Amino acid sequence: MNYIKSKKYDMAFIQQNIMGPNPMKLLEELLQKYPLLPGETVLDLGCGKGVTSLFAVKEYQARVFATDLWISPTENKQRFDALGLTSQQIIPIKAEAHELPYANEFFDTVICIDSYHYFGTDKEYLSQHLLPLIKHGGRLLIAVPGLKKDIHENIPAEMLLSWSAEDIQTLHDAKFWRNILSETEGIEIIELGEMQSFDECWNDWLACDNEYAVNDRKALNAGAGKYMNFIAMIICKQ
Ligand SMILES: C[S@@+](CC[C@H](N)C(=O)[O-])C[C@H]1O[C@@H](n2cnc3c(N)ncnc32)[C@H](O)[C@@H]1O
Repeated sequence: MNYIKSKKYDMAFIQQNIMGPNPMKLLEELLQKYPLLPGETVLDLGCGKGVTSLFAVKEYQARVFATDLWISPTENKQRFDALGLTSQQIIPIKAEAHELPYANEFFDTVICIDSYHYFGTDKEYLSQHLLPLIKHGGRLLIAVPGLKKDIHENIPAEMLLSWSAEDIQTLHDAKFWRNILSETEGIEIIELGEMQSFDECWNDWLACDNEYAVNDRKALNAGAGKYMNFIAMIICKQ
């Protein structure tokens, strides 16, 4: 894949502000096929330090509610201010995914990169907490770290070099996610499957010097990547 838009950004800035495999490139892969329209109101759920949020604003002229639990909205606002983004363009919010402070049918699109697996494995989550916030005809674009095939009964030793069995519980294959989503009424699954961006996004992350990236190198260097991939889920609310 050619990441024409992501490659315009300073890699030092990206590596200081990502919390896992390069989320900007993961989002770019989704948006190449399913672009945002200028002026859309977008929820970036689990935005972390807002790298995907600022990408949606700068590259697609969306208005983004950059929503996260662990990262403070004050910290994110300082980052957005430093880039010259205004509070008309990007709104940092602290919220838990089950208590989102938004009106029903408020968003044209929800993007959710490397975070849905923390709360979305509950079959009720989508219908009860997220779907009501999306307009009819609106979309949900998700990318989660996952597996080529669920291996929870027999976790490969390479993966355990960096992560506990509990950490790995959040990772699943495309079949698992299709099963979870198929329980939800009022959606059409447009696309669900493995993504192309595995090596590119992991290489950007493993080159970071933060302690989590350094820890992840043990598993990836031992070959854990052969069991893993990102899963894309593109959903339309009917
Ligand atoms: C691995 S980080 C990824 C952050 C960002 N998307 C990125 O890729 O750099 C996962 C993010 O999910 C968010 N998250 C996890 N559980 C959450 C929840 N229950 N409600 C809201 N956000 C949650 C965390 O705050 C965290 O920033």
